[in-house]
Amino acid sequence: MTFLEEINRRRTFGIVSHPDAGKTTLTEKLLLFGGAIRVAGAVKSNKIKKGATSDFMEIERQRGISVATSVMGFEYAGYKINILDTPGHQDFQEDTFRTLTAVDSVIIVIDAAKGVEPQTEKLMNVCRMRKTPVIVFVNKMDRPAQDPFSLMDEIEEQLKIKVRPLSWPINNGPDFKGVYNIFNKSLKLFTPDIQGIEERIKFEDISSPELEDYIGDDAEILREELELVEGVYPEYENEQYLEGNLAPVFFGSALYNFGVQELLDAFVKIAPTPRPSFTEERIINPEEEKFTGFVFKIHANIDPNHRSRIAFVKVCSGKFERNKMYKNIRLNKTFRISSPTAFMASQKEIVEFAYPGDIIGVPDTGNFIIGDTLTDGETVHFKGLPSFSPEMFRYIENADPMKSKQLAKGVDQLMDEGVAQLFTSAFNGRKIIGTVGQLQFEVIQYRLEHEYNAKCRFETLQMHKACWIESDDPEVLVEFKKRKHQRMAKDKLGRDVFMADSQFILQMAQDEFEDIRFHFTSEF
Ligand code: G4P
Repeated sequence: MTFLEEINRRRTFGIVSHPDAGKTTLTEKLLLFGGAIRVAGAVKSNKIKKGATSDFMEIERQRGISVATSVMGFEYAGYKINILDTPGHQDFQEDTFRTLTAVDSVIIVIDAAKGVEPQTEKLMNVCRMRKTPVIVFVNKMDRPAQDPFSLMDEIEEQLKIKVRPLSWPINNGPDFKGVYNIFNKSLKLFTPDIQGIEERIKFEDISSPELEDYIGDDAEILREELELVEGVYPEYENEQYLEGNLAPVFFGSALYNFGVQELLDAFVKIAPTPRPSFTEERIINPEEEKFTGFVFKIHANIDPNHRSRIAFVKVCSGKFERNKMYKNIRLNKTFRISSPTAFMASQKEIVEFAYPGDIIGVPDTGNFIIGDTLTDGETVHFKGLPSFSPEMFRYIENADPMKSKQLAKGVDQLMDEGVAQLFTSAFNGRKIIGTVGQLQFEVIQYRLEHEYNAKCRFETLQMHKACWIESDDPEVLVEFKKRKHQRMAKDKLGRDVFMADSQFILQMAQDEFEDIRFHFTSEF
């Protein structure tokens, strides 16, 4: 196979949803089709169980497992598919956002009864920002569902994207009969016990009375609804989808493995091949001969007895080769990667090559941080992996004076992993940890103790937001920092950060200093 053919057969995507809409179930069913797993339930264990005594203990328990499910690669109908797992828990949304920088498209799962939920909206905002093509899968049609037309309206309004159904449900809940696949003009009938192995019935002409033989009285309703669909929604145009302007919609029931193969078949045909990536210097095309890639995730200390970390690298261009020397641009240092791993059919194995779209796991002893660029030598810096301005803050104190070195190292590495952000107050020199969720503080404390043998204490800090500041006028900046000295801090890279204790204080500062730009992500 040529280099170009290898690129063109790759589909790298993420499945996202509000918790409980069916992301895990759908992922698992897709893997079953790809032969990547043999039994249902294999992915399920990677989920934070509802009602677990402590969410975070559960996260800890799952951490070892989740490295295997972070990236799931499999072959299907000549395509190489890479599914990137995203954590469902909202305290880990930053992780999800970062993972979305490594995908070329996204499938959004929506619960047919609940419709668009808050987390779905947030995730869609990220996709919109990056112009990531999205497909919507309306799940749980075997349960009583909302009217499909009002669901379409809701998706359009709340996710702010045009929709185009490519399949249409025939009833729902106990009366769910199946779906008509508009994309390839076929009928698929739902039988709860048979779990989706029913054949598709090619059905070009839905006006044929034969339709009644299959679905009885629902035939007439289906005809009317399909006519309405054709009248209301624009003709499906793949370009529109690829540009992120239009979301094709499919219906099904992941639990019953219904509509999943239809989704997969359409997905491999319409979803984008690896897309160009943006760096500060230039746009990088996947077809370029030379290798480039970036680190979007670090998974550390899976085995506490070995300080093992895995850096997940997305290959953006060129062919990655094992044992070749590649450069970490941030460190200006070259490395030989001797045991890169890929995740195929649920097994982690050493790979000789990887192509654009692929994700490789690179064993790391502390050389990588999130956002690092790896290349063949060229100096470029990948963009799009911002830290978000945190919303929860605590002072962090050493609780065991004998272990201050361990604490510093632990905090440093956890920050590299992107668990939280560290700031140093310009006023009193104290260290402040900022996170997007409450859970991270527990995770930090626990991991510091168990992985670094260090103890920390948190002290409450009433703070609204930390934002990065910038101005074209150095004097204004100096004045600002002088006036707001008590609220100034430095981030890990030494950049100026304004810590506002309330929305009011932030607003006041913004009104007072019009020549200062306040940024709510670290990349500006
Ligand atoms: P998530 O990853 O998006 O959080 O959702 P997940 O797949 O875990 O699904 C959440 C619950 O919804 C699960 O039930 C799952 O079995 C159920 N579910 C998923 N897809 C469908 C569907 O198409 N139809 C129906 N009826 N249910 C579906 P649970 O009781 O929370 O978990 P479990 O005990 O069944 O594992």
